[in-house]
Amino acid sequence: MSGHRDDYAVSGEYIDLLIRPWWDAFGPAVAEALRGLPTGDAPLLDVGAGSGLGVACAVAELPGAEVLAVEPSPLLRAVLLARAAADPALRDRVTVLAADLLTARLPERVSGVLALNVIGHFAPDDRERVWADLAKRLAPGGRIVVNLAPPFTPTDVPKAPMGEARIGRNRYAGHAEARADGPDRITWHMTYEVHGEDGVAPPVEVAYPWWTLTPDALRDEAAAHGLEARPTGPAEAGLFALEATAA
Ligand SMILES: C[S@@+](CC[C@H](N)C(=O)[O-])C[C@H]1O[C@@H](n2cnc3c(N)ncnc32)[C@H](O)[C@@H]1O
Repeated sequence: MSGHRDDYAVSGEYIDLLIRPWWDAFGPAVAEALRGLPTGDAPLLDVGAGSGLGVACAVAELPGAEVLAVEPSPLLRAVLLARAAADPALRDRVTVLAADLLTARLPERVSGVLALNVIGHFAPDDRERVWADLAKRLAPGGRIVVNLAPPFTPTDVPKAPMGEARIGRNRYAGHAEARADGPDRITWHMTYEVHGEDGVAPPVEVAYPWWTLTPDALRDEAAAHGLEARPTGPAEAGLFALEATAA
């Protein structure tokens, strides 16, 4: 995995807590987008599986499906492995690959792909490689489920709350702010705070690049690889299902 930049090396502690509201809101739409995938002979690939909320959603929606979860960040992988170990339904069906998607050894065929809250981590050239590689592996009837989140073009985003969770006597709060940072790119500045009975611990701050993509550009990129990108679920979810264009 040499060359992979782990943007979650510090903030990984908070991701499961703070991304959970996204899954509570849009998990049902993701499940709907996965419905009917031909999982009999090939695994579903979860790209950047994080703490495993998408894996759990897929296993619940697709009885019997095998899931291959690619996750390069050791901290997030630990949460994912703990989630898989604690649930017999996941333990037998989820394989965790400690890898960056760009260098991972993937099976020849995948029945479908989840790529949620992750596509902005790939620079345009890398994204091109990702589409080419996934399109080639997608089984007949398979689909890639991906989401886009605003801003879709490089734009400054003022600091705003991004999530909150209470565990015991502590309250965990995340804030996000973005700066336009060149063509097709922003830098996210994230702040994580733990509010306890004794006040607030020094915040954890991280910054990482994020490549923006418009829905139209996604459609064009997909089409260049013989895939049709169709919006699915509520508009706020930003979900698209990419499927092979009918010949
Ligand atoms: C915001 S988290 C989303 C996690 C999960 N998909 C979810 O929605 O809960 C982004 C994830 O993408 C992973 N990631 C970043 N770059 C990656 C790459 N090149 N290959 C695979 N995963 C990557 C990160 O390690 C992180 O787990």
